[in-house]
Amino acid sequence: MGEALISLRKVSKRIGSEEVLKDINLEVKRGEFLSITGASGSGKSSLLYIMGLLDKPSEGEVLFENSKINFSDEREISRIRNRKVGFVFQFHYLLPEFSALENVALPMLKGGVGKREAFERARELLEKVGLGGKEGRRPYQLSGGEQQRVSIARALANEPLVILADEPTGNLDSKNTEVVMEIFMKLNSEGRTVVMVTHEENLARRAHRRIELKDGRIFHEELQGLHG
Ligand SMILES: Nc1ncnc2c1ncn2[C@@H]1O[C@H](COP(=O)(O)OP(=O)(O)O)[C@@H](O)[C@H]1O
Ligand SMILES: [Mg+2]
Repeated sequence: MGEALISLRKVSKRIGSEEVLKDINLEVKRGEFLSITGASGSGKSSLLYIMGLLDKPSEGEVLFENSKINFSDEREISRIRNRKVGFVFQFHYLLPEFSALENVALPMLKGGVGKREAFERARELLEKVGLGGKEGRRPYQLSGGEQQRVSIARALANEPLVILADEPTGNLDSKNTEVVMEIFMKLNSEGRTVVMVTHEENLARRAHRRIELKDGRIFHEELQGLHG
């Protein structure tokens, strides 16, 4: 852990007349596990989307690997987003007509990876999230926790530097929440940077560092040493 992977400098975001993020200064370091908490509407998702270049700030700068992002360069932005960022959402958005294996392979196929390699890698990723043997199932044939694990495998398809997860356990019971949390911790221990939005205190506390948002500002920040 050390150098900055994503830096936000004086970032503000206005939507209509509302300022949903105000003067955010934040550095996500390579290899860290950062958690973001805050009440509903405090700006957590907005912040995560700007970090992942899904949205652009109204003011301020975003740097990715120390390079300033030019938000008018759509091609550059989607290149970084597709190659370096993996998103996991509260709702998994898996394609219902495709198997787990196909759902994970699709982003690779779209990214130009050959069929054989994409499916082989999808199989490995599903194995990694504990779904070996269930590759052929459609989303509706999997439990909520399993569906979320498929979406984590999918987020890993392009070997992103960072996983950005927006309330990934928001719909899961405590047992599945723990399974998903352990996957994120394992990915992080293997060197992957993880940023996770959560409203669950006990999960937020297990990150290296946590920030709390209030009304679009960083209200509290805490280093928590090693997670475990
Ligand atoms: N697309 C949008 N249009 C209008 N208002 C939005 C939009 N997205 C977010 N907001 C507003 O921005 C604020 C922050 O939202 P959000 O980032 O989703 O918060 P959180 O994820 O912490 O619940 C809220 O007040 C919300 O109503
Ligand atoms: Mg949100």
